[in-house]
Amino acid sequence: MALINENYLKLPGSYLFTEIARRVTAYKEQNKTANIIRLGIGDVTRPLPAAVIEAMHKAVDEMAQAETFRGYGPEQGYEFLIKAIIEKDYAPRGIILNEDEVFISDGSKSDVGNIQEIFGCDNTVAITDPVYPVYLDTNVMAGRSGELGADGKFPGIVYLPCTAENDFKPALPETKVDLIYLCCPNNPTGTALPKAELKKWVDYAKKNGSVILFDAAYEAYIREPEIPHSIYEVEGAKDVAIEFRSFSKLAGFTGTRCAYTVVPKSVMAITKGGKSYPLNQLWNRRQNTKFNGAPYIIQRGAEAVYSAAGKEQVNALVEYYMTNAKIIREGLASIGLEVYGGVNAPYIWLKTPNNMDSWAFFDKLLTEVNIVGTPGTGFGPSGAGYFRLTAFGNRENTEEAITRIKTKLSL
Ligand code: MLT
Repeated sequence: MALINENYLKLPGSYLFTEIARRVTAYKEQNKTANIIRLGIGDVTRPLPAAVIEAMHKAVDEMAQAETFRGYGPEQGYEFLIKAIIEKDYAPRGIILNEDEVFISDGSKSDVGNIQEIFGCDNTVAITDPVYPVYLDTNVMAGRSGELGADGKFPGIVYLPCTAENDFKPALPETKVDLIYLCCPNNPTGTALPKAELKKWVDYAKKNGSVILFDAAYEAYIREPEIPHSIYEVEGAKDVAIEFRSFSKLAGFTGTRCAYTVVPKSVMAITKGGKSYPLNQLWNRRQNTKFNGAPYIIQRGAEAVYSAAGKEQVNALVEYYMTNAKIIREGLASIGLEVYGGVNAPYIWLKTPNNMDSWAFFDKLLTEVNIVGTPGTGFGPSGAGYFRLTAFGNRENTEEAITRIKTKLSL
C-alpha cells in the first residue's frame, strides 16, 4: 500500500480561503436573496490595464503564425521581461541585478510555497504572526514542525507576534532561526516595516547565517517614503535575502498569473558538512526540473506594465484600491473601531469590537450585514481578536459595505 505524507494530516482540514468560501456558500443556500459583499479574499476586481490587453492580443497573433509562434520558453522567463524588471523596478533604486538572478513564474503563491524545497528539513523556520498562511502550511507539509498544539501553534516553528502592542513590528527571535519569512507590506495587517526595522533583520541574518524570504507582493501600495520597496535597499541584504514580487496586486494579474523571484547569487546556505552553495543554483535547478516557464502571452502582458501607458494605467488601478482603503479605514474609525493598515497596503486590519472571537465576528458580519471578511485567527494565533477587510472590491460595494456596517451592524 502506498504511504501518504503524514505531515499533511497535521494541517487543519481546509485552506483558510476555502473554508471561508464554504461558509459563505452554506449561508447563501439558506438565504438565497442575500446581497453578499465579498471583502474576504484579497482578489482584485478591476479589469486588466488596456496596455496589458493590447500586448497580450499582439502576442496571441504572434502565436498564430509559424514564424513567430513560440513553444516552450526559458524556464526562468523571457529576457525581455527580466530586463524590464531589472531596469524599471530595481535600477532606479540603485539595486544592480544580473539577468540570471531574476526568475519569472506563474505567481508568488507558488514561489513562496515552493522555495522551502531548496532548504534542508532540519532548518528552524520563523514566521511573523499573523501572516499569509502559505509560509506556514508549506513548511508543515515538508515536515518542519510537530503536531498542532492547543495554543494554535505548530511546535518547531518560531512565531514572531505582531500586534498593536508592538506596533506590528516583530521582535528578533530569542533562539537562533535559519529561515525567516517577512511579508512587507504585510498581509494581513496592512502595516509595513521602515528601513531601520528591516536593517535589524538583515543584520540578524548576517550574524546567524539565516536567509530572509521577503514577500513584497504589495510593494506597489507603499506610500510612505520611509518604507523600502525592496529588501535590497537595505545594505547587505543581497547576501541574505530572496525577494518575491508579483503582478497580481500590482496590475490585476490574480487570474492571469505572473510573478518573479529574485535570488541573488551572493545568498548562500551550507551542507551539513559545512560546504557553501549559492541558493541561486539550487532554485535554478528546481525550476528547470519542475517548471516550464510562464506563458509567452502572459509575459508580454506583464512587460507592458512597464511601458509609459502601462505605468500610468497601473498607477490609476493602485490609486483606485487605495481610495477604497481610505473609505474603509475612515468609515470604521468613525464608529469607534480600532483600525490599522490601509496606508501602505490594500488591507485594513481591525480590532473586533469587545474582543469578540474572530470567527464569531465573521459570522456576525455575514449574517447581520451580509459582508464577508477574513477572521484574524486564520492568519495565526496572534490574529485572535482581529479581522481583515480588503480594499480590492469595487467602489460601489466598498461604499455600500461601510454604510451597512455603520448603520446596521449592532456593536
Ligand atoms: C489574500 O487574500 O490573502 C490573498 O489574496 C491570498 C493570495 O494572494 O494568494
